[in-house]
Amino acid sequence: MTKHKKVRFGIIGSAGLIGNYHAGTLTKGEGPYELTALCDIDAARLAEQSNKLGVPAHADYRELLGRDDLDAVIVATPHPLHADHVIAVVESGRDVLSEKPIAHTPGDARRMLKAINRTRRIAGVHYQHRANPVYRKIKEMITSGELGRLLSIRFTGSWYKSDFYYSLGGWRGTWADEGGGTLINQAPHDIDILCYLAAEDMPAELIGRCSNLYHATSQVEDHATAAGVFPNGVEFAMNVSVAAHGDLPTFNIFGTAGMITTVAGKFAKYIRYEQDLIEFCREYDGPNPYQGPKYEQQPLPVVGEHDPTEVHKCFAQAVLTRKKSKLLVSAKEGRWSSETINAIILSSYLGKKVKLPLSPARYDKMLAELIATARPVERGQRDSQRGMEAKW
Ligand SMILES: NC(=O)c1ccc[n+]([C@@H]2O[C@H](COP(=O)([O-])OP(=O)(O)OC[C@H]3O[C@@H](n4cnc5c(N)ncnc54)[C@H](O)[C@@H]3O)[C@@H](O)[C@H]2O)c1
Repeated sequence: MTKHKKVRFGIIGSAGLIGNYHAGTLTKGEGPYELTALCDIDAARLAEQSNKLGVPAHADYRELLGRDDLDAVIVATPHPLHADHVIAVVESGRDVLSEKPIAHTPGDARRMLKAINRTRRIAGVHYQHRANPVYRKIKEMITSGELGRLLSIRFTGSWYKSDFYYSLGGWRGTWADEGGGTLINQAPHDIDILCYLAAEDMPAELIGRCSNLYHATSQVEDHATAAGVFPNGVEFAMNVSVAAHGDLPTFNIFGTAGMITTVAGKFAKYIRYEQDLIEFCREYDGPNPYQGPKYEQQPLPVVGEHDPTEVHKCFAQAVLTRKKSKLLVSAKEGRWSSETINAIILSSYLGKKVKLPLSPARYDKMLAELIATARPVERGQRDSQRGMEAKW
């Protein structure tokens, strides 16, 4: 247990979009934590942030890690940097909360998890949708058997982005600096929820198709589709996009006793069948060949408010008590979604089904080829976050 009642945090990548959100969260005084130090390579934005918050700033993360008043560090840099930064943090003897996804390749994810195990540090991932009581309630309904046998989960989601979005961020939308498109940037939260609800695991195998439908300022997929199966037999299908527009992220969760629809993280529909689907399938003997069991819509389950800062609060409790079980999402669990993302990209590249876990060497070979053959795109200098701040 740390000597302090509050966890003393540093942030690497503090002056970025999500880094700023973390800095704001840690300085609101709502949890057992405080913000001790900032770090970013963008000198101008770092100085502005440091002045505003009155918190010391470092241009180099090694300098930040040299401080003697830090218990834990949030890594909020672009995903291809997560592994190196997380490893440096745990090797300095600090606990770590990584941004999502934990890594952009299977090799980096494994390297990171090995270092976490070796150093025996507390390591969490900022998957704040897991704090959503709707998903928790669904998990409870699956675990308790209320939904019968879980058959399949379908997810669709679009987060439209213009060429302007990609032109703002130097690292976004390139194979070399981001390592993927909508799968690795917008979809990880929902892929994490999919893995959590379906099996608390990554899929056993899947087939994926990724396309860039029309984005001129991005080299990576703006539209992706995948289908597969988890080790426990639960099937899934998903379609994610920054090219399509107008829908809301939707889950359909099918059990043999009922089905649930969520839209934008809220309950939208809950149906219960009068008879279990498998029982009905075996027992019904006509006369209508199209007949299914009768069903009725149930009242939507009541849940509480979503507090996204529960990730920080649970992480701080884990650090203070030295109990990994207090984490909302561990780094180990973060691998379910990152490897799923990697598998969809690899499957699309190979044009065939892939089994998980993947071969890190095969993935690295593919990524090197994608980087080498990527078409040039016009990138703006990363001198503006116009249009992005609204999100946070
Ligand atoms: N959990 C969420 O909801 C959520 C939301 C947005 C972003 N993210 C994740 O957070 C990460 C950052 O995304 P963003 O949108 O904030 O990007 P961003 O570009 O706005 O911020 C990244 C910051 O990292 C800094 N940086 C880069 N290299 C650095 C280094 N070597 N040392 C110190 N600082 C460095 C940059 O200067 C920048 O300020 C991504 O992995 C993204 O997926 C998560």
